[in-house]
Amino acid sequence: MIEKILVTGATGNVGFKTVQDLLEKKAFVKCAVRSVKKAKKMGLFFSSDVVKFDYLSPHGFELVLDDVDKILIIAPLDANMYLMLIPFLDYIPKRYVKQVVFLSALGVDRDETNPLRQIELKIQKMKIAHTIVRSNFFMQNFTTGFLSDGVSKGTIKISAGEGATSFMDSRDVAEFLSVVLTEQEHENKIYEITGNEAITYNQAASTMAEVLKRDIKYLDVNEEEMRRVLKNKGISKDTVEFMLSLYRPVRKGLAARITPTFNEVLRKNPRKFEEFLNETVVKKIPSTAFI
Ligand SMILES: NC(=O)c1ccc[n+]([C@@H]2O[C@H](COP(=O)([O-])OP(=O)(O)OC[C@H]3O[C@@H](n4cnc5c(N)ncnc54)[C@H](OP(=O)(O)O)[C@@H]3O)[C@@H](O)[C@H]2O)c1
Repeated sequence: MIEKILVTGATGNVGFKTVQDLLEKKAFVKCAVRSVKKAKKMGLFFSSDVVKFDYLSPHGFELVLDDVDKILIIAPLDANMYLMLIPFLDYIPKRYVKQVVFLSALGVDRDETNPLRQIELKIQKMKIAHTIVRSNFFMQNFTTGFLSDGVSKGTIKISAGEGATSFMDSRDVAEFLSVVLTEQEHENKIYEITGNEAITYNQAASTMAEVLKRDIKYLDVNEEEMRRVLKNKGISKDTVEFMLSLYRPVRKGLAARITPTFNEVLRKNPRKFEEFLNETVVKKIPSTAFI
């Protein structure tokens, strides 16, 4: 029987690319989206089922999980993500679901109160086959994410010290997720995926300056200044504090870890930062939802 895979966050950075990779593998995909209008603009209706979905609207869960064999869970980056996901996570075991795959982040197991870790623990208790994929920070944070403003103004202000990070291209994360969702041997595993090189924010800024031929600098600011910058972007107070907590391990060098996992599972290397910049910014190959 052909399996149907539900992709949450299908209009987002990782979800959209995962849908494309799954379709290339001839999988049957159901996209769970908050905005049908946005999904239409992105062309999701042409190739897959689309269903309206909001973690905050439990009355829609029955329809969302109808006919679904596997689920990819992508949580919105929000300090309250665990509370937001509880009703959906509680509903999943009421349906016949064969596998739950969750996109988490590297290092979350150091802190049991981290909301991503709380989601992991809840999924592990479900008694359903599951796979947890912990990725290191995305390269896309610089180009389409919360650091992109700073990059375009020429100064990246972040409290990351001189700690290095083995960044992942989120397109590689999506490809990894598509493999875990379509091959048999990944059930009940935790994968920690990183890039093959660790670079500091200083090195990232000078690589961007060189590749993009612009003046781009890194300013290592204290938490107070980073808090101010994030608040000015309209990010909620709780989520700002959550984001600050993610950068404390970076300053200590803990995000520099390099694992062989991506290479072992996909039998190829993850993209390097320079490759990512050349493809997505110089050649403008879309790395994320293109609308
Ligand atoms: N950025 C990093 O460096 C990094 C590293 C490791 C792990 N992660 C994890 O990756 C995840 C984010 O992935 P991403 O970059 O693909 O995020 P993204 O581009 O911001 O996409 C988030 C998706 O979630 C959807 N969404 C938001 N609120 C929702 C709700 N209430 N109900 C249902 N869907 C909702 C969004 O829908 P709309 O399109 O309608 O807004 C969007 O499709 C986070 O859980 C983060 O912890 C990030």
